[in-house]
Amino acid sequence: MNATIIHISDLHFHTYPHNFREWKSKRVLGAANLLLRRAGQFPLQRAKRLVEQIQKMKWDHLVISGDLTQLSLEREFALTRETLEPLLKDPERVTIIPGNHDRYIQQDEKPDLYKKYFGEFFGGAEIHVRKLNPDWVIVGWDSAHPNDWLSAAGTVRRSTIQATENLLRSFPEKTRFVIVNHYPLTFPEGWKLDQFHELYNLVPVRNWILRHPNIRLYLHGHIHLNWLHRLQRDSAPELLLVNSASSTSTLYRGQKSSFHQIDLQEDKVRVCPIMLK
Ligand SMILES: [Fe+2]
Repeated sequence: MNATIIHISDLHFHTYPHNFREWKSKRVLGAANLLLRRAGQFPLQRAKRLVEQIQKMKWDHLVISGDLTQLSLEREFALTRETLEPLLKDPERVTIIPGNHDRYIQQDEKPDLYKKYFGEFFGGAEIHVRKLNPDWVIVGWDSAHPNDWLSAAGTVRRSTIQATENLLRSFPEKTRFVIVNHYPLTFPEGWKLDQFHELYNLVPVRNWILRHPNIRLYLHGHIHLNWLHRLQRDSAPELLLVNSASSTSTLYRGQKSSFHQIDLQEDKVRVCPIMLK
């Protein structure tokens, strides 16, 4: 049985802080960064076009791998929800996880704004689980947490790994899994790794995934450069790692895709790069 996933990421909906409370701490830095660099990169019109384009496509499941917003402002979450609404009619067909920009500063509110606006696409459990068909299961992780001023890093919690390990054991041996997490596990050749921008526990998490041959796909965002990477395993199928960030950003020179369509057919995975029209 076939299943088609549309994978988008890092939409970065933005508004500007209005009052002193919103301007506090790290948001000043983020807002300055936004004003200088990002506002022109993520016009709302591109996000609306992306929604229209995806509405016209045939798919079974939509994955958004974090960074819905820029500064975690409530108006940004509301704007994101309103714009994406045509794609969110059936929560069973949508997986949305948070990125570091959705947990930009410590929020007093419980549940936090990501959960308030998108909780139905993750839920209250440690991991988010959706069965695509008898062969494939999607598992969403929440590794985004607030940091100090100069860090954008995340952490996959021990409890997340444990819950995933238990889940894997609960399915028949032939089941294949797709992990959705905001942060990359691989980088382009020659990439200068910044430990304060990536997963704090990147290497153990990557090794853990490689030890589980039924995890065939890893969908992420965070670095705004679409790519498809492959990690070989010794005597098991390879792991495909797909980066769909950023699906709404204006295009840099040479960019060949804005997001991906992923077709799963029994054991086969086909990843198609798609350009935002
Ligand atoms: Fe990010």
